[in-house]
Amino acid sequence: MSVPVLELKDIRKSFDAVVAIENFSLDIRPGEIVALVGDNGAGKSTLIKIISGVHAPTSGTISIDGQPVAMSNATMARAHGIEVVYQDLALADQQTVYMNMFLGRELTNGLGLLDRKRMIAETEQLVRELDVRIPSAHATIRDLSGGQRQGVAIARATHWAKKIILLDEPTAALGVAETARVEEIVLSLKSRNIGVLIISHSLDQVFRLADRICVLRRGKQIGIRSTAETDKNEIVAMITGLQASGG
Ligand SMILES: Nc1ncnc2c1ncn2[C@@H]1O[C@H](COP(=O)(O)OP(=O)(O)OP(=O)(O)O)[C@@H](O)[C@H]1O
Ligand SMILES: [Mg+2]
Repeated sequence: MSVPVLELKDIRKSFDAVVAIENFSLDIRPGEIVALVGDNGAGKSTLIKIISGVHAPTSGTISIDGQPVAMSNATMARAHGIEVVYQDLALADQQTVYMNMFLGRELTNGLGLLDRKRMIAETEQLVRELDVRIPSAHATIRDLSGGQRQGVAIARATHWAKKIILLDEPTAALGVAETARVEEIVLSLKSRNIGVLIISHSLDQVFRLADRICVLRRGKQIGIRSTAETDKNEIVAMITGLQASGG
């Protein structure tokens, strides 16, 4: 067995009196897609923010390639090869698409000046590959539709991810064709040996993509199932805490 690209052990997070995550443990192998499911407020986004350095866990350890890491901000997580598409996207509204694509890692030329030409050309190629229909790489983010913004955030994350990609409802604002394209791209990350943790409220999507499904309910880890060995009834029962009918 390969070393997990990401290992979470006994992660706990409280916000004052609110316990958002308790005793959460999960391994993700290189090239594995794990779906994180649960009702609103279950703690899914909080968990992604812990892995991406936005929130420090109250306790517990995070390891990458078997090495424990401490990440006190998102920049450190990026340096460890972790990329995120946040539920609230986190794009710079006043900036162009191409500057967003390279935010914090702008390309420069021999003189140390921004190499806008190359950034624009690479951005155009990326959005073409993703079928994101944006007016141009020069468009300002605030002038894009929700779906177009989501496309930009996904293109940026899939381009830069080296080890792990965390996707928080990546297709929530997308149309049918765009969703299908994003799903293809998520599946293609397997061949780059990237570990994927994807949050989705669409169980159809979860069953199309995931190797394993992890269920959270009110901050508690209810269980992890191999997708091949479970079904929607069982997952719904785990999410809601109610017994599946029939079966
Ligand atoms: N910064 C914060 N301060 C205080 N409480 C927070 C904070 N962030 C999240 N919480 C609380 O933690 C719990 C889990 O929230 P979280 O956003 O992780 O849920 P979620 O599973 O992503 O839900 P959804 O499906 O609606 O996106 C909620 O009760 C929320 O109010
Ligand atoms: Mg959320």
